[in-house]
Amino acid sequence: MTAIEVNQVSISLGHGPAKRRILGDVCFSVAAGESFGLVGESGSGKSTILRCIARLLNSWEGDVKLEGTSVNDMPFADYCRAVQMVFQDPYGSLHPRQSIRTALQEPLRIHRMDRQVERMEKALIDVGLNPDFLSRYPHELSGGQRQRVAIARALILEPRILLLDEPTSALDVSVQAEVLNLLADLRTKRNLTYLFVSHDLAVIDHMCERLAVMQHGRIVEVMSRDVLATGAAKDPYARELIQASLEYDQAV
Ligand SMILES: Nc1ncnc2c1ncn2[C@@H]1O[C@H](COP(=O)(O)OP(=O)(O)OP(=O)(O)O)[C@@H](O)[C@H]1O
Ligand SMILES: [Mg+2]
Repeated sequence: MTAIEVNQVSISLGHGPAKRRILGDVCFSVAAGESFGLVGESGSGKSTILRCIARLLNSWEGDVKLEGTSVNDMPFADYCRAVQMVFQDPYGSLHPRQSIRTALQEPLRIHRMDRQVERMEKALIDVGLNPDFLSRYPHELSGGQRQRVAIARALILEPRILLLDEPTSALDVSVQAEVLNLLADLRTKRNLTYLFVSHDLAVIDHMCERLAVMQHGRIVEVMSRDVLATGAAKDPYARELIQASLEYDQAV
């Protein structure tokens, strides 16, 4: 089954003379259970694609299907049960004055879920945190713990698809590895589908089976992970990006 199907998605953003085309005819699909990477230089449109799929932007053209249904035809409740997003900066998704309990309970309340306390405690345990964290506030947590809470919140409605926008880029390298391993474990255990944005090709290599390279709002090539090791991409820009990353890895 196809989990995510992005078909000819285009969007222009900005107002008046500053209006610019940000995405042009983006197409790719992600199989159920697959982890698919999106890479490309800053400003190439990676976050914008995730924001279109996540319905944080709505002025796009084209079609996005989740498990065969166009997102625009999905009732909000079904949509939230199918897909959730994790951001780079957990401060963006966790309100500083809300306790972890409030942050985790909000989606459960909106969706009128049963066994809320049990679900919140399990969500924390599943991301490697003690249920005591429910009474804490975001500023009382380390960066890694905050990102674990953001992941717990994204998973609390048991979605099948996660959109991950640089989920570990703001973390120290050692913490980054722990959170990446957690995400890999969660995917296996829950058979999740990931759409994973990172500027770090080593992270993509570790986390994804396939990836798309973006440049100036377009996908220039879709490739399997193997290509990252050899640098044998067809597109010149993709080849350059991989080559630069391979040289960097050899230099450090
Ligand atoms: N709301 C907006 N209005 C106008 N332009 C925008 C808006 N949001 C994004 N852009 C522009 O769209 C382009 C793509 O942005 P996007 O955030 O998707 O890039 P990205 O690939 O995620 O980059 P990065 O790696 O730095 O996160 C950029 O040129 C950005 O300035
Ligand atoms: Mg981005």
